Amino acid sequence: MDRAPGLSVRLKLTLSYAGFLMVAGALLLAAVWLFLLRYVPDRAMLINPDDLPGNGVFPVRSALLDVFAPRAAAVLAFLLVFGLVGGWVLAGRMLAPLTRITEATRLATNGSLSHRIRLPGRKDEFRELADAFDTMLVRLEAHVAEQQRFAANASHELRTPLAISKALLDVARTDPNRDTGELIDRLHAVNTRAIALTETLLLLSRADQRSFTRDHVDLSLLAEEATETLLPLAEKHGVTIETSGDITPTIGSPALLLQLTTNLVHNAIVHNLPEQGTVWVHTGVQSKTAVLTVENTGGQLTPQQVSPLTEPFQRGTERIHTDQAGVGLGLTIVRTITHAHDGTLTLTPRPAGGIRITVELPAVSAHTDR
Ligand SMILES: Nc1ncnc2c1ncn2[C@@H]1O[C@H](COP(=O)(O)OP(=O)(O)OP(=O)(O)O)[C@@H](O)[C@H]1O
Ligand SMILES: [Mg+2]
Repeated sequence: MDRAPGLSVRLKLTLSYAGFLMVAGALLLAAVWLFLLRYVPDRAMLINPDDLPGNGVFPVRSALLDVFAPRAAAVLAFLLVFGLVGGWVLAGRMLAPLTRITEATRLATNGSLSHRIRLPGRKDEFRELADAFDTMLVRLEAHVAEQQRFAANASHELRTPLAISKALLDVARTDPNRDTGELIDRLHAVNTRAIALTETLLLLSRADQRSFTRDHVDLSLLAEEATETLLPLAEKHGVTIETSGDITPTIGSPALLLQLTTNLVHNAIVHNLPEQGTVWVHTGVQSKTAVLTVENTGGQLTPQQVSPLTEPFQRGTERIHTDQAGVGLGLTIVRTITHAHDGTLTLTPRPAGGIRITVELPAVSAHTDR
């Protein structure tokens, strides 16, 4: 393994174990020595004075030291070897999970996000680190898959108008007597749709990057503006719009929040009952949250049908390509703008049919200035 010069953690741990063992051993030997000094007299009379020359007085302590010192040194030497070998083995076992984690990190760096550490054993610091890393890999993998899906869908949607234009041009070329006015009109419509789609994609990416300036915004004014703009569409669909609510101040991008409100009201109109539908738009502050609710009558939906609708390019059950059919990015934009404003988006099917969509954003007091 290539590592910058310096002691490895395993070696450092080994040295620490061995050093600690040496200190503990030395302290123990010192304690034994002190104990011996306390209970053994300095000199002792020999029982049989003939055994030694002189007066028969024997220097016990110095003799004891002669016996004790080499043995103590041997014990210390043994402890040193034992500490080094034991420490090396123990440190290796302790650090083994780290090797697995490092290996997984290296694989992830090289692009393999499907690998998991799955560290066995009981919960300890290493296990927690490995589990956190696995969770991160799961999220990252899902995110990358989502991005890839999005890119594939976006490319597909962008190719459709180009393919239609090509088909129209091909027909015009083979049939020179065709009405060019009609051709131009259809090409114009297809082109407008393609531009709108591209602008939607740009809007999504801008909102995702959170690169917008924030201002004081009153959601009730935005709701009013969006409703007014969409009134002709509502009339065309035979839908009645009822707005209610108080001043609902929040902070965010006025343009993006207007887009969010417009998308919701637009959906509530076009995905409503075929006739005599109703849309309720309500704004208000509830316990430090600015709430925008858009509710509409419509077909019966289950929670399972409703939850994926915010995914990009999801168009509900009917996938009919009429001129009215959208691309399925309206609610994705709503979700992205809501999240970019640190808010939450909730979709609930109404028991009587249709959906209630709630956007909750952090509220600010109407009187406080930044
Ligand atoms: N208010 C609503 N009531 C009932 N169904 C809805 C409502 N809003 C959205 N839907 C369903 O969710 C799907 C996705 O909505 P979304 O706004 O993302 O796409 P779209 O309206 O189909 O196209 P566009 O990109 O033009 O908005 C719709 O096709 C529709 O089936
Ligand atoms: Mg829509």
